[in-house]
Amino acid sequence: MKELKLALIGFGNAGQAFAKMLLEKEEELEKRYDTRIVVVAITTKTRGNLVDAWGIDLDKALKNVQNSGRFDKILGFSENSTSQGIVDKVEYDVLVELTPLEFNSGKIATNHIRGALRRGKHAITGNKGPVAWAFKELTELAEKNNCRFLYETTVMDGMPLFNMKRDTLRLCKVTEIRGIINRTTNYILCEMAKGRSRAEILAEGKKRGFIESNPATDLDGFDAAAKVAVLANTLMGANLTPPDIERKGIKDITMEDLEKAQENGNAIKLMCHAYIDENGQVKGSVGPEEVSKNDIYATIEGTSSVITITTDMMGTLTLIEEASEVKQSAYGLFADLMSLIEQD
Ligand SMILES: NC(=O)c1ccc[n+]([C@@H]2O[C@H](COP(=O)([O-])OP(=O)(O)OC[C@H]3O[C@@H](n4cnc5c(N)ncnc54)[C@H](OP(=O)(O)O)[C@@H]3O)[C@@H](O)[C@H]2O)c1
Repeated sequence: MKELKLALIGFGNAGQAFAKMLLEKEEELEKRYDTRIVVVAITTKTRGNLVDAWGIDLDKALKNVQNSGRFDKILGFSENSTSQGIVDKVEYDVLVELTPLEFNSGKIATNHIRGALRRGKHAITGNKGPVAWAFKELTELAEKNNCRFLYETTVMDGMPLFNMKRDTLRLCKVTEIRGIINRTTNYILCEMAKGRSRAEILAEGKKRGFIESNPATDLDGFDAAAKVAVLANTLMGANLTPPDIERKGIKDITMEDLEKAQENGNAIKLMCHAYIDENGQVKGSVGPEEVSKNDIYATIEGTSSVITITTDMMGTLTLIEEASEVKQSAYGLFADLMSLIEQD
């Protein structure tokens, strides 16, 4: 049986959901692909790091973190190691980058991925930073070192966007992308339109865990701008970074604005856009817009998201992801892993 060794950099919501999925699908992967997935390293910022060349017991690691908030020292606990040190020295086949987005640079995650690709190891990222800040460099590095850089879950979780373009829209040129791709702001706007105050919605979202303790990344449109840069770079061949994206968040949207839109049957949404301008340059923008009640975007509720991709050969395609949860994010990582298994 073949063995594929994984190093997980970051073990928060997405990392833990991915580990659970690996356990859930272990038998099927072995039966169908004659492949055993072995996680040889897990790193975090505050919970400690694990390294075990024979394979970490994922079930124990999950229980350990859930019960005590830290890895137990007997599990393969690695004293004095750093994530970058593990990226650069441990023997693995695939790096899975799951640290938080650094909007202003994407530096830490980019360094992790660069370190893996330089060693000829495949890299999968759920973190948008490296794709938004260094896509060209990292794809060229992967090509040079005969390995792959994959990023399906960076936009709309496991929704097959990048896999679809690569596998089923071959040679199609993407000329425009529009969508609602930040679920937190969509949820806030939908709930405000029902008459709830922003403060009340934020408090509820934080309690339920889908709004971050500092929600500015979403409210000011930073997360959405990083996603537009990812889409423009990967699907439209651009070389943009998040500051290149024209950006306005939803902080100034009032109940009155939403009510006025509703009187016309319309809705206010945080719309994301990547397009080709009159000089042939790819541009991107994020900002609130009043969308017509007849528009599909007006029907996107709560934590759902939508994207419309216009192409030269396949017309216009619209994909909707209903009420996303962390399992769908884990699936994006799993789908990338499957691409690597299938190519062997
Ligand atoms: N959650 C989702 O549904 C989802 C969906 C799509 C994409 N993503 C992306 O996936 C990434 C992870 O998301 P998440 O929700 O799992 O975040 P999270 O719950 O905040 O977990 C982040 C993990 O990274 C670790 N970490 C932070 N800084 C680090 C560093 N410098 N070196 C090593 N580890 C570090 C944290 O350590 P501690 O455990 O010590 O805090 C934690 O384990 C983010 O970039 C996010 O945008 C998430």
